[in-house]
Amino acid sequence: MQYSLKVTQPESARSQCLVVGVYASKALTPAADALNNACGGAIKKVLRQGDFAATVGDTLFLYELDGLTSKRVLLVGLGDKKSLSVARFQQSHAAAAKALQKGNATEALSFLHEADLKDKSESWKAQYAVAAVGHALYRFDEHKSKDTAPKKPLEKWHLGSTHRRGQKSIEEAIKRGAALAEGTSMARDLGNQPGNTATPSYLADQAKALGRKHRKIKVSVIDEKELEEMGAGAFVSVSKGSTESGKLIVMEYMNGKKGQKPAVLVGKGITFDTGGISLKPGAAMDEMKFDMCGSASVFGAMKALAAMNAPVNVVCLVAAAENMPDGGASKPGDIVTTLSGQTVEILNTDAEGRLVLCDTLTYAERYNPAVVIDIATLTGACIIALGKVPSGLMSNNDKLAGQLENIGQDSGDRVWRLPLWDDYQSQLNSNFADMQNIGGREAGSITAGCFLSRFTENYTWAHLDIAGTAWNSGAQKGATGRPVTLLTEYVLKHHAKKS
Ligand code: BES
Ligand code: MN
Ligand code: ZN
Repeated sequence: MQYSLKVTQPESARSQCLVVGVYASKALTPAADALNNACGGAIKKVLRQGDFAATVGDTLFLYELDGLTSKRVLLVGLGDKKSLSVARFQQSHAAAAKALQKGNATEALSFLHEADLKDKSESWKAQYAVAAVGHALYRFDEHKSKDTAPKKPLEKWHLGSTHRRGQKSIEEAIKRGAALAEGTSMARDLGNQPGNTATPSYLADQAKALGRKHRKIKVSVIDEKELEEMGAGAFVSVSKGSTESGKLIVMEYMNGKKGQKPAVLVGKGITFDTGGISLKPGAAMDEMKFDMCGSASVFGAMKALAAMNAPVNVVCLVAAAENMPDGGASKPGDIVTTLSGQTVEILNTDAEGRLVLCDTLTYAERYNPAVVIDIATLTGACIIALGKVPSGLMSNNDKLAGQLENIGQDSGDRVWRLPLWDDYQSQLNSNFADMQNIGGREAGSITAGCFLSRFTENYTWAHLDIAGTAWNSGAQKGATGRPVTLLTEYVLKHHAKKS
């Protein structure tokens, strides 16, 4: 899909389809109003029939209105004007894109981003309009034997503007939106791949391919044997239960100021989580192919940043392993020594994410990081606490937590902070080792965060538990691509070279 800015008046524009917004009150956005005036009130006449409620997601095609150069007009509902939100802005763009994809038009000129969203700049609207369209048109049909592609795919999305003011910054915003869409779609592709395709070595190959596409990304892979020699006993205790070799995948993108400390992103990449010897029940176990969505989001953010040629220093570490109950698997009660030297009693082999992450977080120290953020589908308890709306955020630094909260709010890729108070730490006490890997039923997401916090004392750190936000279940089952937007925007905003 191509996205570009087109400076034109809607009524005289030549396009296969003009896309304009309408509020639930039947008030028109400026472009809809201009079209209505040019065609002698025909749009208002249609609205007066009352069939089109203009709630968010409603769409209505109108054809060959007198006085317009374009043959189609797509009316898109924006809902109540006063409560227009980031989410609704994105939903209305998604609805428009999907309606167009079903039809015959291969190109559209949209003014939908004009929607009256409080406190949002034109650049913001352009960027997130593009990202929303990209998100809506995403498909994953690699494993379908019959061609399910749309007959006449939408190829060009023009964002209309009636003035030239700020043109350059809007064009840059459109590019950022397209890069975000690319990164998000890569994260969704990786997440949606089944466990028999997306193994740790598949992820390593994907990293190498990314490095070939974007020459500034340097890729290296540490395999299970090297991890063992290094002393990453917690990491290896997970991967040795599978015939697939575990891998620590490193992607370095140092395109920022020379010598500026990098932001390090650490992704949980359990390519399938059976639970190991503490085997999971069968229901919905297929969804544990999504247990690498943390690492998928790290890939996506890396790709988006590289596509933008962002002037930032970022290092991505992907902790890739399969959690299986093979002959070499860890048993409840086993004690392992982590890369940090601390020992862990593995009371439940299903709490494997923190085991691969703790060694990767220790490994991150060698980059002398400005900050480290880990992203993980870490605990079912996070879904119980927060549902599927925000990702869980924990941090040892209030400033970093605040920055992530703000960017989450601004972008719609929201987070909610949970406390990492010392009071919870004693739930990890073990009679036999320095700590155990589970903290009991209470505050399961927080005790998982507390476990990780014991490996991150030497730097500024945040942990994102994306168990509830990384994928959808049910009829819409599939990876969401979250939190690629949050990570990309965070790195852009707080780690870009100041020129
Ligand atoms: N990958 C799971 C967490 C998960 C479960 C995410 C369901 C999304 C949906 C993780 O490895 C896990 O199994 N966690 C356990 C921890 C427990 C054993 C302390 C959990 O949440 O049950
Ligand atoms: Mn598990
Ligand atoms: Zn897991």
